[in-house]
Amino acid sequence: MLTTTPQPIQLSDYKAPDFLIATTELDFDLAPETTRVTARLTITRNAAYLGANDAPLVLMGERLKLLSVTLDGQPVTDYTLTDETLTLASVPDSFTLETEVEINPLGNKTLEGLYMSSGRYCTQCEAEGFRKITYYLDRPDGLSKYRVRIEAPKAGFPHLLSNGNLLETGDLDGGKHYALWEDPFFKPCYLFALVAGELDVLEDSLTTMSGRKVELKIYVDTGMRDRSLYAMDALKRSMLWDEQVYGREYDLDLFMIVAVRDFNFGAMENKGLNVFNASLLLADPTTATDMDYERIESVIAHEYFHNWSGNRVTCRDWFQLCLKEGLTVFRDQGFSADQRGHAVARIKDVRALRARQFPEDSGPLAHPVRPSSYVKIDNFYTATIYEKGAEIVGMLKTFVGPATYRQALDHYFATNDGTAATLEDFLAAFEAVTGDDFSPWLQWYTQAGTPRLHVTSAYDANSKTLTLSFTQATAPTPGQPEKSALPIPIRFGLLTAEGEKQMFTRDGILAAESLFILRDASAELTLNDVKHAPVLSILRHFSAPVVLTVEEPTSHAFARFKGDSDPFNRWEAAQGLAKAIILSETPDEDLIDGFAQGLEASLLDEDLDHAFKALIMGLPTESDLAQSLSPIDPAFIHRNRKAFKTALSLRLYETVHGLYTSLTPAETFSPDADAAGTRALRNALLDLMLAGHNRGAENATSVNLAFRHFETASNMTDMVGGLVALMHVQDRPYKDALDIFYARFKHEPLVIDKWFALQAGCAHPDTLARVRTLSQHPDFDAKTPNRWRALVQSFANNQSAFHAPDGSGYDFLVDQVLEVDAFNPMTAARLVEPLSRYRVYAEPYRTNMKKALQTITLSPDLSKNVLELATKALA
Ligand code: PHE
Ligand code: ZN
Repeated sequence: MLTTTPQPIQLSDYKAPDFLIATTELDFDLAPETTRVTARLTITRNAAYLGANDAPLVLMGERLKLLSVTLDGQPVTDYTLTDETLTLASVPDSFTLETEVEINPLGNKTLEGLYMSSGRYCTQCEAEGFRKITYYLDRPDGLSKYRVRIEAPKAGFPHLLSNGNLLETGDLDGGKHYALWEDPFFKPCYLFALVAGELDVLEDSLTTMSGRKVELKIYVDTGMRDRSLYAMDALKRSMLWDEQVYGREYDLDLFMIVAVRDFNFGAMENKGLNVFNASLLLADPTTATDMDYERIESVIAHEYFHNWSGNRVTCRDWFQLCLKEGLTVFRDQGFSADQRGHAVARIKDVRALRARQFPEDSGPLAHPVRPSSYVKIDNFYTATIYEKGAEIVGMLKTFVGPATYRQALDHYFATNDGTAATLEDFLAAFEAVTGDDFSPWLQWYTQAGTPRLHVTSAYDANSKTLTLSFTQATAPTPGQPEKSALPIPIRFGLLTAEGEKQMFTRDGILAAESLFILRDASAELTLNDVKHAPVLSILRHFSAPVVLTVEEPTSHAFARFKGDSDPFNRWEAAQGLAKAIILSETPDEDLIDGFAQGLEASLLDEDLDHAFKALIMGLPTESDLAQSLSPIDPAFIHRNRKAFKTALSLRLYETVHGLYTSLTPAETFSPDADAAGTRALRNALLDLMLAGHNRGAENATSVNLAFRHFETASNMTDMVGGLVALMHVQDRPYKDALDIFYARFKHEPLVIDKWFALQAGCAHPDTLARVRTLSQHPDFDAKTPNRWRALVQSFANNQSAFHAPDGSGYDFLVDQVLEVDAFNPMTAARLVEPLSRYRVYAEPYRTNMKKALQTITLSPDLSKNVLELATKALA
């Protein structure tokens, strides 16, 4: 804990390690407050420096009680210890070092290193948690082979797990037992894991493409085995998909997953032993929503895919984090799209990108996908590194085409297997298979900020030619005043004024759709044989993560809304129109009528699937709308968005009600995409019906309908759908439903998290008071990140409630962040971001947000994590 600004680490300072640790042997003698860890490391001076370097051995270690050090069996006493390092000034070129330390897992509330959760031991080492377990060269380019011996009492700790293969188990005196694990693959220490405790296990197996049988085991809280069936199913589908689509086979004989309740992030890809936040693993129809199922499927895939993109090929340094994260997100998005439909998946991914990454990229915390400096790497597990990183891989695939992409990836894995690589290595694979220069693409990794792409067009009816003019520009971001032009892949097509598909000729080739790569600040493209005055459909499937503006009449957006054959752009047209309506000072009744008719046509269109219809009904979120307003006035956005929804509700009541009643819930529950799509549509319809409840004659009818929907729901998705719809009503039926919900699920922590989150996310003037009361609820516990985020993060995301004009919402957040920072900086720091963009808000928000940030920076004993973000926000 410190108060001065710590020195950042620079990418340009990277230097290969002075020492290599070929083998790592760890002995754990587990005890809640006095665990002993013995580490035997075979160390050699890095050959790169031999003869030219007599550097001291500096190992990292934090919160360790050092008991002994020996070098080649001889006790060492002339070492130097600081809070963060153990230094041996002079060591031979090759030696064995043994250290013994004592640590306190029970007292470790940072949830990094070795800690206890629900009476079990578990570890979290990424990014720099291994140094809280033992003294080590804790950096991702230090690859080593591990052998791990775990010793613990048999009672309470029947399962002793670590990475790799189980070599041996046995009984010991005093009611203890042990297990010995060996991981045959070289790995960095951030992929180390250990779990010990009482667990239920779901077992299965899968035969890989080369005919090897792999044992699959999912470990969960006792009694929860059946809730891991879906995760197991998703795991097997992921493994087969990675074989079929990327040619990647699993490499150990055993793959284990453990679910824990106390976890800082979503899940972790430790070699052969993934650790999951229980909220992303356990599911059954009565406790999990379809969104939970969807996330479980994608996170299971994500962590499994890391075995190649992350573990077999890891990162040279943490600046390359997106080498594993961006690529792995892109891979899991591909998997989800194949499981659930490409258009719907793409829309959801873009919605998330806009909600989280675009704001980040335009604020004071903007950073390149490969940052050039950081204070705490924990602060860089961001939407930019994950989601924008994935978009870059997607653009590369679009640019080279799917077949070449696969060749490039095969080449990347083959040439970098067993190494710690860089983004240059990744792009080199594309260069190797195409012979082209990919250095312009590197700028997507090194330049922050979302490019703006502007398109104008000129149509000549006589010659039937269309000229498209593209320009790009990126606004300055912190530390990067000047921006370069980036390669932007633009997929496009043309429609007629009626929304019908229109062919054209480009470079002599007849096409319905084409790909243009904008490489410079501006460029023109001429198309021929354009028979009718065209409507442009630019950036289909969202082919680049940019903000697009097209100079065109509103009628063109209606044409795309009506008939664009690219489902993404059809949805996008609706979003754009809704945005224009909501953000205008006075309601434009004609536009609203037109939108309502367009929406009605989509809802009645037999060719569209339910999931897509549910998405096209979804109005832009308040945070998305804020992106298009300067300065941001959250109250204005909330009021207008609500008014528009009410207007739609009143106009479409008959259609919406009719469609709702025609969708009868299925007899038996299936989590598959079709069934989930129907539930999503039914819930969206209910929500829209209720949005106008206090203005129409159907008041009582729709309120009763919503309550019945909630009460008779046979699954969690519909229960939540009912509750969300009842939020429009507040008062009695809503409050009753909340009480019923609590009473029914009070023994289900994952469901009670939802109960907290729903109330904190409710757009109502009383929400802050309610949230304050909930923070005193006996079930509230700031030490469990899931529960804390359910209340505090949901509240901070609730734009209208969080941005109270008097700043009271900010004050609440500051208190919470400071409280949690005292024991869990990694989790606390994630909630500094909601305050960071104060400069783009209107008064009084702006001043109040800034004051809140200042309160943070002036607090004593801040962690490096929180200090780094709050300081950057104010800079
Ligand atoms: N590497 C994890 C993932 O994305 C994320 C993570 C980072 C989890 C740090 C815990 C701690 O898959
Ligand atoms: Zn990941």
